[in-house]
Amino acid sequence: MKMLVTGAAGFIGSNFVFHMLDEHPDAQIVALDALTYAGNLETLDKVMDEDNFSFVKADIADREAVFQLFEDEKFDVVVNFAAESHVDRSIEDPGVFLRTNIIGTQVLMDASREFGVQRFHQVGTDEVYGDLPLDRPDLFFTEDMNITASSPYSASKASADLLAMAYHRTYGLPVTISRCSNNYGPYQFPEKLIPLMIANALADKPLPVYGTGENVRDWLYVEDHCRAIDMVLQDGKVGEVYNIGGHNEKSNLEVVKTILRQLGKPESLITFVGDRKGHDLRYAIDPTKIHNDLGWLPETKFDDGIRMTIQWYLDNEDWWQKIISGEYQQYYEKMYSNR
Ligand code: NAD
Ligand code: TYD
Repeated sequence: MKMLVTGAAGFIGSNFVFHMLDEHPDAQIVALDALTYAGNLETLDKVMDEDNFSFVKADIADREAVFQLFEDEKFDVVVNFAAESHVDRSIEDPGVFLRTNIIGTQVLMDASREFGVQRFHQVGTDEVYGDLPLDRPDLFFTEDMNITASSPYSASKASADLLAMAYHRTYGLPVTISRCSNNYGPYQFPEKLIPLMIANALADKPLPVYGTGENVRDWLYVEDHCRAIDMVLQDGKVGEVYNIGGHNEKSNLEVVKTILRQLGKPESLITFVGDRKGHDLRYAIDPTKIHNDLGWLPETKFDDGIRMTIQWYLDNEDWWQKIISGEYQQYYEKMYSNR
């Protein structure tokens, strides 16, 4: 089985590559990534010399390059992680989100049609369900809910999901879609909440919490997400959407306080800053379908996952120090100074 994994030098894509190489040593994995600011080839160092692994630098929206690759490689399965993924950046500059997340997905699906791919899996997000109110803990995202969007990021991901469903119905492309809640774990780019707070706390810098810090996210350890996608690829039904999440809701303030506690840093580092525009209040996944249909359950409790994640950032300071000492400095300055 030959599998294309796009966005493989990013956070979840790289973890998925490691998962696949561990769990399916017979699979041939071709990793593709454009190596944008969020892609880091060093992340894939440890698998670069594996016989059943290869890396291609390419842009999923580059039709010519993608079609050539599909013609050369004859993939059986495509898993599309490649995306612009940060909500705050999408608010500053939506254009690249539409190009990569929508047009890039279209190009991959066109190539999948042309070259007879047996499964196209679109890695989606729960953000396409909009948000839930904070005072209705009984409400959860289910697969049959309407798609809506609060940010240019979620609008672009919703568009990609709609296109994928349309390609399934119109052309019979064998598509599956998964929609996962917020991931955390090793190799997450430090612009996202958990690694940003770890890095700042370690440097005794202020921890910028947007608004009141009451917004709720449903956190899932990245390996649980990778295992869920693997199960969808094996036993999922074509044309179906699967929500992935582990009932692990935490307010941002709870998450930040947990990080400070574990690092032995004072809560006085918490600094409330201006809120994100259109800030979604609460995400919460109902994972009943993937549990009942595929037998998936999360295996990592938040307490264990966050401890492992913090330990990983402590043990791999080189990996993220290099990132935050480069152009990230300008990004941080632009997003956080005078906020
Ligand atoms: P990430 O930003 O860490 O990685 C994205 C990767 O895609 C990077 O390596 C980047 O270089 C690459 N990329 C960007 N544009 C590209 C292009 N035009 N062509 C080829 N490669 C390109 O993101 P992530 O957190 O790993 O997210 C991966 C996927 O999972 C995304 O589709 C995202 O929407 C989805 N998702 C993420 C989360 C989360 O909590 N991080 C939750 C649910 C779903
Ligand atoms: P983020 O990691 O960007 O994921 P998403 O927006 O996709 O859920 O943010 C998670 C939550 O943390 C979100 O409610 C915004 C908040 N947040 C902060 O309060 N401060 C920060 O510096 C960042 C990056 C996020």
